[in-house]
Amino acid sequence: MPNDVKPADPRVETLLARMTVEEKVGQLGMFADMVRPFAPDVNPEANVRNAGEVLEQVRAGRVGALFNGVGAVQGREIQRVAVEESRLGIPVLLAADVIHGMRTVFPIPLGEAASFEPALAERTARATAVEATAAGLHWTFAPAVDIARDQRWGRGAEGAGEDTVLGSAFAAARVRGFQGGDLRAADSLLATPKHFVAYGAVAAGMDYNYVEISEGTLHDVHLPPFKAALDAGALAVMTAFNDINGVPASANHALLTGLLREQWQFPGLVVSDYTADMELVAHGYAEDDRDATRRAFGAGMDMSMQSGFYAAHLPALVESGEVPMAALDEAVRRVLSVKAAIGLFDDPYRSLDPARESDTSHLAAHEALARDAARRSIVLLRNEGGVLPLRRDARIALVGPFARDTDNIEGCWTLFGDRSRYVALEAGLRAALPAGATASLEVVDGCSMEEAIDGGIEAAVAAARRAEVVVLALGEPQRYSGEAQSRTRITLPPVQQALAEAVAATGTPLVVLLRNGRALALEGAVRDAAAILVTWFLGSQTGHAVADVLFGDYSPSGRLPVSFPHDSGQQPFFYNHPRTGRPETPDMSEFKARWREYPNTALYPFGHGLGYAPVEYGPTVVSAPVIAPDGVLEAWATVSNRGTRAVEEVVQLYVHDRVGSRVRPVRELKDFRKIVMQPGESREVRFHLQAAQLAFTRADGRFGVEPGRFDAWVAPSATAGTPAGFTLA
Ligand code: BGC
Repeated sequence: MPNDVKPADPRVETLLARMTVEEKVGQLGMFADMVRPFAPDVNPEANVRNAGEVLEQVRAGRVGALFNGVGAVQGREIQRVAVEESRLGIPVLLAADVIHGMRTVFPIPLGEAASFEPALAERTARATAVEATAAGLHWTFAPAVDIARDQRWGRGAEGAGEDTVLGSAFAAARVRGFQGGDLRAADSLLATPKHFVAYGAVAAGMDYNYVEISEGTLHDVHLPPFKAALDAGALAVMTAFNDINGVPASANHALLTGLLREQWQFPGLVVSDYTADMELVAHGYAEDDRDATRRAFGAGMDMSMQSGFYAAHLPALVESGEVPMAALDEAVRRVLSVKAAIGLFDDPYRSLDPARESDTSHLAAHEALARDAARRSIVLLRNEGGVLPLRRDARIALVGPFARDTDNIEGCWTLFGDRSRYVALEAGLRAALPAGATASLEVVDGCSMEEAIDGGIEAAVAAARRAEVVVLALGEPQRYSGEAQSRTRITLPPVQQALAEAVAATGTPLVVLLRNGRALALEGAVRDAAAILVTWFLGSQTGHAVADVLFGDYSPSGRLPVSFPHDSGQQPFFYNHPRTGRPETPDMSEFKARWREYPNTALYPFGHGLGYAPVEYGPTVVSAPVIAPDGVLEAWATVSNRGTRAVEEVVQLYVHDRVGSRVRPVRELKDFRKIVMQPGESREVRFHLQAAQLAFTRADGRFGVEPGRFDAWVAPSATAGTPAGFTLA
């Protein structure tokens, strides 16, 4: 088992026996790494210590880990002080938020999930780990595995979207990629699934808000990606900021100890989110700082990030007997065991090799991977009249605030990207055009991200009139998604919508390139454009990847990992919602579950996406009418490429449980597969459905299957396909 830290390293017990309470508590504290070049500001200021003070604490043996500084040379110096100058010589863990790339930036995780290729995420996570460990890191606070069913929440950008099966596959793949096959290898990066748990379920999509959730939804929707990440070997978990039904996740004994430790037997360490223990006071869940420390530690949080609460209050709590010494020892044992597991006691200078840092600073293979990952993440929503792919000799107007921009390429949570290598749209398109043809590309901003430019719209309209096709690059500035970036309206900034309306009025066909960290509610000329490509935040190679798709060098193969609604007011909107007693009917009759303005449907559903050839699905077929409770069923459909070029198709298996002891979702994704299809090719695409995949948290509170009738679809999206019925005996 990759996550097996047993047999316990004997050095851990030897150390424990020699440690003072202060030294033990020191191992449970993590602080901002002010010694090395520190990442930009991503957290509120709290308990700030300068570089000298940090090193002094390391020397005193009062630091278990440092975070968000980088660099191998100074990292060695930190480690030298820890190993040679502290009394017990315990190395520190060096951590950082390396979420979707280090120097080379890959698509935001939500975008990469659109590839429906977990193996791709494994490769980008591996490349990230190679670069991050070369830059002097042992540990990343990733992957974020929160399921985001409300697009107002900005942190959906960091996860894999609204679906649990897709999210679990990406969670496991990212852990495997970060950690690699050997935790002790210099390029293995310790992974941290976060934020435990249900952070994506914050009320009204407002970051840091409360969570009211049923046990069934918690267990069936939000917990499985964590389980998948831990089964893949992750040795750290980060707690969430939110409360869950009144109990903050960071002081939640039932979840941190009952579920994680006792039921799941998680052997690694639990770290708080940034000052999450301190925030128990603001939650009104703890009387004061000391009480907050007692509650967080007592619940099962091993390591405290940044607040300094453990160092300040744990010794007195141990002294008074409120925290048993055995519990303190157990938490320290876990932190030391993780250090042992990644080889720090054998080589404290692991991942602190300046030569490797400079050799790894720019790897051509990672650049190629970034381009491939980016183009595989793009989703073609619509392509009326086959406007795409573009001819290379077409007169093209590239219009919009993202046309030349390089400040909104990396997306949220890229702290260390090499900005000098970011490829803007214009640069990518020009590079794809034959020499001499670049004059046929005219580039106009039209407006800035949120403001009008004098004469901008007029210039854009004039360029559109001269062009055969307009490529309109619109979207959310990157600071609209990520932490603390919740929105009430998930629409484009008004000035960009106005630009789109004016350009559309010229009658020149529009290809919209959306840049976004969430699903958007598309309106007017943007919604009605001839073609729409969802390009998320694609990372370093944005311009090249988009050009590959626009000119048809790559047929888009991404599919939506989040439903695109008609309107913001539909949120939270997700495809696998429970059934209502008054479902909408096609005739839109009265007294049905719908809105006055819109039906209860998506504009573009989960799983939707087109390629450059039409693909047809035959009806779903199942191998038997009845499946035993421990049995397997095959489900398949004939999938045909009716076009003249090869495409990649994401074939999806959905199931619906017709009657349950709790109301069941209208459909649930159970499996998916991306396949390459040659022109004219027809093929039966088969899935094996285990009866166990039909289990859920039943009305009796237990997880298991219930006999009854089911429907299965082998389909190109969550709302397409012709089902086949079967019975679970
Ligand atoms: C975020 C975490 C992040 C941590 C450290 C917090 O505000 O919620 O995702 O890992 O900061 O930067």
